[in-house]
Amino acid sequence: MSELDVRDAATPPEPAATPVPDPGLEEHVERYTDVDDRASRATYRQIVAMLGAVPVLVVAFVVVYFAVPISAEFALFGTTWKAQHVLLGGTVGLAILLIGMALIQWARLVMSDVEMSEERHPAQTGPEARAVLAADTKAGVEESGIKRRALIGSGVAGGLGLLVVPALLALGDLGPWPTDAVRAKTIEKTIWAEGIRLVNDVNYLPLKASELVVGQLVNAEPENLQALHGSEYQIAKAKAAIIVVRMDPNSIRIPDSRKDWQVDGILCYSKICTHVGCPISLWEQQSHHLLCPCHQSTFDLGNSGVVVFGPAARSLPQLPITTDADGYLVARSDFTVPVGPSFFERDSSKDFKDGDN
Ligand code: FES
Repeated sequence: MSELDVRDAATPPEPAATPVPDPGLEEHVERYTDVDDRASRATYRQIVAMLGAVPVLVVAFVVVYFAVPISAEFALFGTTWKAQHVLLGGTVGLAILLIGMALIQWARLVMSDVEMSEERHPAQTGPEARAVLAADTKAGVEESGIKRRALIGSGVAGGLGLLVVPALLALGDLGPWPTDAVRAKTIEKTIWAEGIRLVNDVNYLPLKASELVVGQLVNAEPENLQALHGSEYQIAKAKAAIIVVRMDPNSIRIPDSRKDWQVDGILCYSKICTHVGCPISLWEQQSHHLLCPCHQSTFDLGNSGVVVFGPAARSLPQLPITTDADGYLVARSDFTVPVGPSFFERDSSKDFKDGDN
C-alpha cells in the first residue's frame, strides 16, 4: 500500500454540500393526450360524459325518493335489502364517484404536467414576488385547461351544486319539525299509561309489590311493550325503560306532591340518564344513590331523583305507580316530564327541584 493510499484511508471524505447535490428534474415525457389531438378530445368527451351523468343520477335519486315505498324489499346474497335505501345510496354514490373520476382524469390527462423547480427565497414576499405569484396563478389556470375546456369547469361546479338536492332530501328524513304538537306526540310521550303493569325486563313477569324486598332494584318495562315490533318496539323501549327500587319509607324523603306515586317505599324511575341518555342501574343501597356509568351523574332516588353529582342538569323522571286489585305494580299515568336528555324546547318548569314538597 503506498503512502498516499494510507493517508486516504485515514482521512474521512468531505461531506457533500447538500444531501442530494443536484436533485435535478426528470426529462419531461409527454402524455399521449399531449401529442395526439384525437386522444385529447376523446379524454375530454369522457370527462364531460361522466359529469353529464351526474344530473341524471340526481334526478333518479329524487324519483326513487318519492316513487319507491320505504317498505319495498328484495332478497340478495341471502339477506333482505330495503330497495329505497339501496337505490338512494347507489344513485348518489355513483354521482360522487363519477365526479371524482372526472376530476382524476382531468388532473392526469388534461392539466399541464410540466414539472417546475422553485428557488428558495426569504419568507417575506415582496411586491415582485407577489406579481410573479399572480402571473403563475394565471398561468396555472390557463394550463389547467379549464378555460379551453369550459365544459369541465361548469360540469364540476354544476355536478357538485346538484348534489345539494339529495342532501336536502336526506335532511328532510331527519323527521318532522319539532313543533309543540309533534313533541307532545313523540319525544315527550312514552307508552306508559294508567293501569299498565310493570314487568321484569328479562322474564317479562309482572312485578308484585309484596315480592320486592328493601334494597332491591329491578329493571323493568311496560307490559304493553311486547305487543310492538321492529323499530316501533325499539323506540318505545328506549323511552319507557324503568328501574323499580324498594327503600325503607322512613329512610327517604317523599314530597307531599308525590306521596301517592309510590307503594310502601317502592319507587319507579326512568332508566335513561338525563345527561345524554345512557341506561343506568348502578344502585348503591345504603345511600340510595344511582350512578350513571357514562359520566358519573349521580341521582338520589331517596329524594325524588335529584342530581347530587355530575353533569346531568335534571332530576331523574319518576313514574307514578300504584297497585292493581291483584297487588301487581301498575302505572298511574305516563311520566309527568319528558324522559332522557335535555333538548332545546324542553320545558323544565315541572321538573323536581330539591326542596320541593
Ligand atoms: S349519560 Fe349519564 S352522566 Fe352522561
